[in-house]
Amino acid sequence: MNTVKLCIDTDPGIDDALALLLAFQLFDGRIVGITSVAGNQSVDKTTANAAKLLDLANQTIPLYRGAEGPLARTSIIAEEVHGITGIGKAVLPQSRRTIEKSPADEAIYEMACEYNGQFEIITLGPLTNIALSLMKHRDLAAKIKKITMMGGGSYAGNVTPYAEFNFFADAEAADIVFRSGIPIVMVGLDATHNATITKTEATDALNEESYTQFIALELFESLFENHLYHSVNTSYMHDPLAVAAHYDPSLVSLSDAHVSIVCEPNEHYGQSLVEFYHDSPNAKVALDCDLDRFRELLFSTLTSYHEH
Ligand code: BDR
Ligand code: CA
Repeated sequence: MNTVKLCIDTDPGIDDALALLLAFQLFDGRIVGITSVAGNQSVDKTTANAAKLLDLANQTIPLYRGAEGPLARTSIIAEEVHGITGIGKAVLPQSRRTIEKSPADEAIYEMACEYNGQFEIITLGPLTNIALSLMKHRDLAAKIKKITMMGGGSYAGNVTPYAEFNFFADAEAADIVFRSGIPIVMVGLDATHNATITKTEATDALNEESYTQFIALELFESLFENHLYHSVNTSYMHDPLAVAAHYDPSLVSLSDAHVSIVCEPNEHYGQSLVEFYHDSPNAKVALDCDLDRFRELLFSTLTSYHEH
């Protein structure tokens, strides 16, 4: 039995929401904290969405509010993709859950100390919280076993020709994390652009009589309706693939590489420079995914929510 504890750092976010529903089932009993961060929407909204999703899945995992904005650059959000609430057209009841007192960056350090060496993080948004924690605590990096992150890419961006959203939203933070020495699995656009779900697959698989599956379908549909996220009726599963790859790394093909982040304020800001032929790799980079097995894992997990 895997006893390593896990924190999920996230900016829900439509695909974050699907990723969380996936993670709650795959890592049942192992998730010791959810930390929110500004990204797809303001941190007020991403925190509220995380709380609603925890309620939806009947989870008591502590929720910590994270950074309001990036370390150095001006804030950006992705309302054109994720909508005014951040979770598209899915409507969930307001949560009455208490948000923990510790800010996310402190909570990350506290969790890492408690589960020293047996603690992993999945990041689904900008890396601000992790970077803040690393800046404050020099001993943090050695306590984290692994970070699996959704971010970056070796050949292209999605918000600029060069940069992927999570790294573009806080390149300075990504830079700090890649320099930290923490073992990193980078699940970027090389792999997630091959992790597609079609409308037919989602509607065939999910049973709307289950409230959670109905909400999952609303989330999928919000993505299918958005041309920016792929094309009509098909969508990239960026964040769900990162969760799936953390659960089963054989779902992605990984190559050792040295990743550095462009922080200069030019057109390459936020780009991940991925060097495969390098003496000192600092990450394993996902270059592809096993689409059939990923789809099978995603839908078999989402359809395990049975409540009506
Ligand atoms: C990433 O950006 C966000 O909009 C998504 O939630 C995902 O984490 C994809 O570039
Ligand atoms: Ca995200």
